[in-house]
Amino acid sequence: MALRDSRIPGFYKLPLGDRRQAIIARSDMGADALSVFDGGGIDRVVADRMVENAIGVYGLPLGLGLNFCVNGKDFVVPMAVEEPSVIAAASNAARMIRAGGGFIGEADEPVMTAQVELLDVPNVQAATALLQANKAALIAKANSFIPRMVERGGGTQDIDVRVPSLQFGGTPDRIVVHLHIDCRDAMGANLVNTVAESIAPELARLTGGRIGLRILTNLCDRRLIRVAAKIPVAMLASENVTGEHAAEGIASASRFAEEDPYRAATHNKGIMNGVDAVVIATGNDWRGVEAGAHAFAAITGRYLPLSRWWIEDGAFLVGQLVMPMAVGTVGGTLGVHAGARAAQQMLDVDSANTLALVIGAVGMASNLAALRALATEGIQRGHMACHRRATSVVPEAPQAVPTPIVAVASRTTAEALL
Ligand code: MEV
Repeated sequence: MALRDSRIPGFYKLPLGDRRQAIIARSDMGADALSVFDGGGIDRVVADRMVENAIGVYGLPLGLGLNFCVNGKDFVVPMAVEEPSVIAAASNAARMIRAGGGFIGEADEPVMTAQVELLDVPNVQAATALLQANKAALIAKANSFIPRMVERGGGTQDIDVRVPSLQFGGTPDRIVVHLHIDCRDAMGANLVNTVAESIAPELARLTGGRIGLRILTNLCDRRLIRVAAKIPVAMLASENVTGEHAAEGIASASRFAEEDPYRAATHNKGIMNGVDAVVIATGNDWRGVEAGAHAFAAITGRYLPLSRWWIEDGAFLVGQLVMPMAVGTVGGTLGVHAGARAAQQMLDVDSANTLALVIGAVGMASNLAALRALATEGIQRGHMACHRRATSVVPEAPQAVPTPIVAVASRTTAEALL
């Protein structure tokens, strides 16, 4: 299925049907493989099975992020997003980053954490010690509930005990047991929650406490990705702005976000523009990824940007992004959502960790594009031109795909971006 080259010059100029053909021609997908997206990837029957009180299917545009190269491999990235200019801007930034060798990334093992809350613990100190003394037995017990995951090389790796009141104040007789579980290629929510619920009675017996909440934490800080990019400063130049000027502006914008949480929130929103689009397209839980991102951004007690940019040797703009990324390539929505399955097939990642890195790369590209625009000509020119294009509805001439499509009124903005 792999689309080995993510550079497809002039892709944006093609009518939608021809874009599909271009993708099919570059892959070993069947001629009809992309028609699943005509109806948003699911039909009303599936929608009715997926949620309660269903009355239909809600659509989002699906586009392809181009020019992405991560750890030496090209990816054509499906992105589901309603905001004009996000896909063009990310593709444009990915092209610049490509000129510096592409994105380099590494991901932690895909470890999620279950929280089991124990209340009214009679002796918190003794209970903590007892839990720690029984760690090996508790890990074995936890793994007995998920034998198939253990067979696949995952499972509970570690347990630790937290007394939140020691750090944050509050209820002194509450203990929280954290079970750190390697979920391999699954996002892992169901698995982790199963372990939490199954092991809770044993934890309550050992500590003399009362079982409280049993649920994963979305602050999955053992499942971090680190993605970096190095761009020759000259690549950042535009018609009116030198590369040096753009690079300095981006580095300054990065420092602004580090110094001011009001700016950091918007800086991170720019990252999540790209991140969420891929998380949604691939059938993953974007609310979980959002919750994890912002909790992690504030983990030091102060809300900080998830990425930083600086200039190296006067010649390169360098950026790094660190954030949690709980996504899967198996299970969850993929079982029911044909569109999410097709998107994952097109992306062709070999593991949840590779998917996580690609998502991080798209987040960084979105962030770079936003900062470059903000630090030079401002965001409104490009953004509003894309917005105008999206809101002036001119149906395309009928072609292979008879879906009414939003206008292709002005190509100039896309041309400038791509
Ligand atoms: C808009 O969707 C995203 C930006 O606000 C991000 C940023 O300010 O960095 C442009």
